[in-house]
Amino acid sequence: MAAKWSPDSWRALPIQQVPDYPDAAALAAVECKLSAYPPLVFAGEARRLLRSLGDVAEGRGFLLQGGDCAESFAEFHPNNIRDTFRVLLQMAIVLIFGSGQTVVKVGRMAGQFAKPRSAPTEKIGTLELPSYRGDSINGMDFTVAARRPDPERLVQAYNQSAATLNLLRAFAQGGYADLHRVHGWNLEFVANSPAASRYQDLATRLDETLAFMAACGLTSETTPQIRETDFYTSHEALHLGFEQAMTRVDSTTGDWYDTSAHMVWIGDRTRQPDGAHVEFMRGIGNPVGLKAGPSTEADSLLRLIDALNPDNVPGKLTVIARMGSDQILKKLPPLVRAVQRAGRVVVWACDPMHGNTVKSSSGFKTRPFERILDEVKGFFAVHAAEGTHAGGVHIELTGQNVTECTGGAQAITDATLADRYHTHCDPRLNASQSLELAFLIAEALKAERDQKNGSVRRAAAE
Ligand code: PEP
Ligand code: CO
Repeated sequence: MAAKWSPDSWRALPIQQVPDYPDAAALAAVECKLSAYPPLVFAGEARRLLRSLGDVAEGRGFLLQGGDCAESFAEFHPNNIRDTFRVLLQMAIVLIFGSGQTVVKVGRMAGQFAKPRSAPTEKIGTLELPSYRGDSINGMDFTVAARRPDPERLVQAYNQSAATLNLLRAFAQGGYADLHRVHGWNLEFVANSPAASRYQDLATRLDETLAFMAACGLTSETTPQIRETDFYTSHEALHLGFEQAMTRVDSTTGDWYDTSAHMVWIGDRTRQPDGAHVEFMRGIGNPVGLKAGPSTEADSLLRLIDALNPDNVPGKLTVIARMGSDQILKKLPPLVRAVQRAGRVVVWACDPMHGNTVKSSSGFKTRPFERILDEVKGFFAVHAAEGTHAGGVHIELTGQNVTECTGGAQAITDATLADRYHTHCDPRLNASQSLELAFLIAEALKAERDQKNGSVRRAAAE
């Protein structure tokens, strides 16, 4: 691992999850073209996110990362982008109010197109075709033509990411995210759920606070923090040819940055310490994430931390545990202890989605909301017991009124999953379920804060 790094040094190493492109020269030509396209994000922005995550790693702040499992070309629409952005803002407000902590908002947006799959092919009847690997690689339709990897899709993904990011920047900086609009963010269908009335109460309290602040001279006009918000983008860095093409030298520091997103992560299927994905990720200056499923051993996690964050920079590495609600209490503590013992600083985040996927009796891939809540509770319980900071969550969600995960206040059942099941990959929380989850996390964060304050008071009294 200590060998010299370059944006293409991953090419010499074993690699998982590679699409079978029929025309390697066409792929190389597209990657070459993309390497001359403008960066999607700037290195300075990635460094700013890294600093914010550094605060989270040290116990001051919370990471809220969420969005589609897979963005798609078909669902590319300003309303979809707005609604996902809006539900993340709503969740952030709930978390800030509940915890009194800064919330770092990172979308699984503007680049989340490439998907790892558990099998390289899919068989229906006697026909066996390559698996769908995300819209930047091939099409979802079960036909020979759609499933053939097409490099031109990378260009379309780049263009869609650029347009999405442009709109997100406008929303974040252009007035949509102004705190005076928190009431207005409530979505129609969320307005009828129990979480929505809790949210309205909170919005009313926020209005009072804003009125007080205005009387003190702090208004949207005078105070950018009221008017604007920081919003970052992220995706799984799975297609390394694409990521390499987007990797550029930052002229102010001379370091390499992957300019396809502010933060990128390594999936659970591509985290081999000697593999290509880890090699690529160790050389970029961006903050990086690492998914850790139930097969993660403490030794291998420490090796990965050494490779990905050798200088132990707080905020550089986020470990995203995705153990499953039935495994989290058993699998997470040994990892947290090993990292603590080694003196390593990471952001601990919880992905309560990917370890809780089941097949419903109606045949849909779903996730019971109760299990998602249970895994989050388990995550907080582990950190409370270990004295470490539960630093964030990583959620698959959408602002649309989908029926993909069962349960929640709307009581979606196996039988009603078919009503609005639209995901291109894994089942997502809808806006109502997302808000419900945010209230649960806010309570857990408040308990963490009370515990911390309690022990500070006890120590002072001793
Ligand atoms: C994902 O985040 O969509 C994903 C595939 O996760 P994991 O790598 O944890 O399975
Ligand atoms: Co997913």
